Amino acid sequence: MKLERGGPIQTFYIGNKKMPVVERGEGVYLYDEEGNKYFDASSGPITCNIGHANPKVLEAIKNQSEKVCFASHAFFENKPNRDLAKNLVTLTGEKYDQAFFVSGGSEAIEASFKLARQYAIVCGQTKKHKIIARAPSYHGSTMGAFSASDDIEMKENFQSLTKIAIKVPAPLSYRVPDNFDVLSYARFCLDELERTIMEEDPEEVLAFILEPVGGLSTGALVAPDFYYKNVREICDKYGVLLIYDEVMSGAGRTGTFLAADHWEGSDPDLVILAKGLCAGYSPLGALLAPNRIVEPVVSSGGFLHGHTYASNPLSCAIANAVLNEVIENNLVENARVVGDYLKEGLENLASQLSIIGDVRGRGLLLAVEVVQDKTTKAIFNTDQRAIYRISEIGIKNGILLYTRKTSRGENGEWLMIAPPLISTTDHLDEFLSKLYETLKDFEKEQEKR
Ligand SMILES: Cc1ncc(COP(=O)(O)O)c(C=O)c1O
Repeated sequence: MKLERGGPIQTFYIGNKKMPVVERGEGVYLYDEEGNKYFDASSGPITCNIGHANPKVLEAIKNQSEKVCFASHAFFENKPNRDLAKNLVTLTGEKYDQAFFVSGGSEAIEASFKLARQYAIVCGQTKKHKIIARAPSYHGSTMGAFSASDDIEMKENFQSLTKIAIKVPAPLSYRVPDNFDVLSYARFCLDELERTIMEEDPEEVLAFILEPVGGLSTGALVAPDFYYKNVREICDKYGVLLIYDEVMSGAGRTGTFLAADHWEGSDPDLVILAKGLCAGYSPLGALLAPNRIVEPVVSSGGFLHGHTYASNPLSCAIANAVLNEVIENNLVENARVVGDYLKEGLENLASQLSIIGDVRGRGLLLAVEVVQDKTTKAIFNTDQRAIYRISEIGIKNGILLYTRKTSRGENGEWLMIAPPLISTTDHLDEFLSKLYETLKDFEKEQEKR
């Protein structure tokens, strides 16, 4: 057998888009094969929280690899896995007691639904099976995670393959429907949650899942403070488990270790982490849960969910090294401080540029909403390819911009601004001036059309 084949060969993941070929990463920068340098303005897909080629993490990879890379959880426990669980429950203020590790966000979302369902069964609440999620939302690409997500294009293509979860409106802060302001709309969304639970029958509603600080589907949406506490109260009132999807917002990104920590008295029953947990050095997702939920399930025969790579020793050792870096370098605090600085810088750009309609987010999970007309909030026509073109110009100007237009732009389109947590104000000044240049270049192109 030979590893040779003539002709062009592609991975179909990226489709036909032509992209630079990455060669190496260092700190907040990535370099392509031609030597071009790029500021990683979104940490990839909000993943590379501690930047690239961190020496301590590389050392941990080497050390663990030399010991053991894989030992099935069917035969062994492993120390990195135990240490990581301990580190996480400590960092989350001991609100959770146990962790379950898988390979990424979607898998961890699936695990949360299954744990919730098994818990209901062992508690004798066998009718509980309905999941309520928000629209818009994104919880992942596997069938269960996708069913809880809300995007028109995804739905059109895949809804016949799975049972779509029940949706309630997300408390949007920029495109608030007519006759509402931000606060009254958040109250309406809470009423809709309660009404939906009652309509679906509380005895059948298992869980409500939300992204506490939004990701791609809402462009870093943050609800008014009272929303979070009221959600918790509604869930308690009807015996519905509350799940926070912190795949993007967790692990320090928003200026607290869990985004949930921003809102006292709103703690969810289950939390999901992924992306920043291993910071791109290895695939990893985690489900955090309290003993009161895990113990009854375990003692009734065990959790019926597993993946070959669950509790992988190498990934867990890497996550421990990432967490050490986060703690030793005060990166959660840095996310809060430089996040405020960056947000102010973006708001300053918004005051100078007609195409920035909104700046939102928390810590270093921010988004810039792009509009054609600030007054009407109209988005650019499809043929103007606004965010795609901005991203292309950004690449030429040395900044990597992660963009999203969900539901064909029905909810708007934005640039996710989420650089690594190691970013300094100098990095951010340089980035802001390149972003200004990029958006100006785009504006000039539009004038010429
Ligand atoms: C909020 C949120 N949940 C879940 C997922 C799915 O995670 P993964 O891509 O690791 O499966 C993502 C991915 O972008 C996400 O942003």
